Amino acid sequence: MIIREPKFEVSAVSPKQYPKNDLPEIVLVGKSNVGKSSFINTMINRKNLARTSSEPGKTRQINFYNIDESFYFVDLPGYGYSKMSKVEQEKVGQFIEEYLFKREQIVLVIFLIDIRHSPSANDRLMYNYVISSGLPFIILANKADKIAITKVDAAVKAIQDEINPIGDITTLPFSAERKIYKDEVFKILDSYLNVD
Ligand code: GTP
Ligand code: MG
Repeated sequence: MIIREPKFEVSAVSPKQYPKNDLPEIVLVGKSNVGKSSFINTMINRKNLARTSSEPGKTRQINFYNIDESFYFVDLPGYGYSKMSKVEQEKVGQFIEEYLFKREQIVLVIFLIDIRHSPSANDRLMYNYVISSGLPFIILANKADKIAITKVDAAVKAIQDEINPIGDITTLPFSAERKIYKDEVFKILDSYLNVD
């Protein structure tokens, strides 16, 4: 896949604000600060088209990035951001749930987990939620640059053993920072988008 002109299109908190077309959507989920927005920037080769921050809680709405009029990357707010008020967390949880359950053109959910930690209670909730939604998904263990390269495979396996012991969900390392494993991930995205 060659990306030429990725554009931010719209932020949404309810279905009437979603883009009005049926392009396929690839959506990022995961806890706050795990690197969902950074993942998008890395894949599209832009420094900060998707706004990132070292502080968790940067993305607060559903952001649609139109990739060459052929598909969207959809960036969601993260969960587990304790500074957000209970009321706001509830609101955000509801619009995320509404999006994941209602949006018919989601072709893939990319579930980011921090390679350095075992999946949190919220990660497990999200995992179960995605499973129950029936949506296709893969797990990427992000921030692989933060551990020694010799430990990457074992760390990915430890995450898989904990969250998906049957091992039927594709789980790969990733580093948005160093842009490693990007080619492997593009191949997967191409297969879900039916691109050669
Ligand atoms: P929310 O919008 O709060 O849900 O967070 P997010 O998941 O979108 O995280 P974001 O992309 O804003 O990244 C959070 C921080 O982690 C930023 O400081 C990024 O530079 C950093 N980061 C993201 N990916 C990586 C990575 O692969 N390696 C390292 N070392 N840092 C990363
Ligand atoms: Mg973000």
